Amino acid sequence: MSEKNHRVSRRQFLNYTLTGVGGFMAAGMLMPMVRFAIDPVLKAGADQDMVAVCDESELTTEPQRFDFKIDQVDAWYESEEPRSAWIFKSENGDVIALSPVCKHLGCTVNWASDEANPNRFFCPCHYGLYEKNGDNVPNTPPLAPLDVYEHKVEDGKVYLGSAKPKGEA
Ligand code: FES
Repeated sequence: MSEKNHRVSRRQFLNYTLTGVGGFMAAGMLMPMVRFAIDPVLKAGADQDMVAVCDESELTTEPQRFDFKIDQVDAWYESEEPRSAWIFKSENGDVIALSPVCKHLGCTVNWASDEANPNRFFCPCHYGLYEKNGDNVPNTPPLAPLDVYEHKVEDGKVYLGSAKPKGEA
């Protein structure tokens, strides 16, 4: 091959250089815009902020249902979502807050609503049962204990955070 075939003309050189520099500058301008647009999607799911739900003085050893609202952010969409918890005190005075969402198919469980099981949580959808501490009763549909809310007691108020599988809250 002759050396002439390998030579780059001035026009080709300018084309390559301008394309390269132009592409680099375009990427530099577009990257922040793309990142801004998809940033909420990339963020890891944050734990729920603690919300004041009731006064500690209201609690007894009998589970009571408390309804409350949380601020929820799904990517760009912010909303107020209703939540509920069964809250009571254990025999040694610890506050226990259980999620009412059945671990079978997500129906809402109630305390002592089944006459045959007066001291258990009952799910009417498929006759699921849970002990007072949230443990699922063997040979009923749910295969896991009720989720447990993270909680704290401050200035006489009970605050709840995220509901997590028992043992992780
Ligand atoms: S959804 Fe609760 S037992 Fe099926």
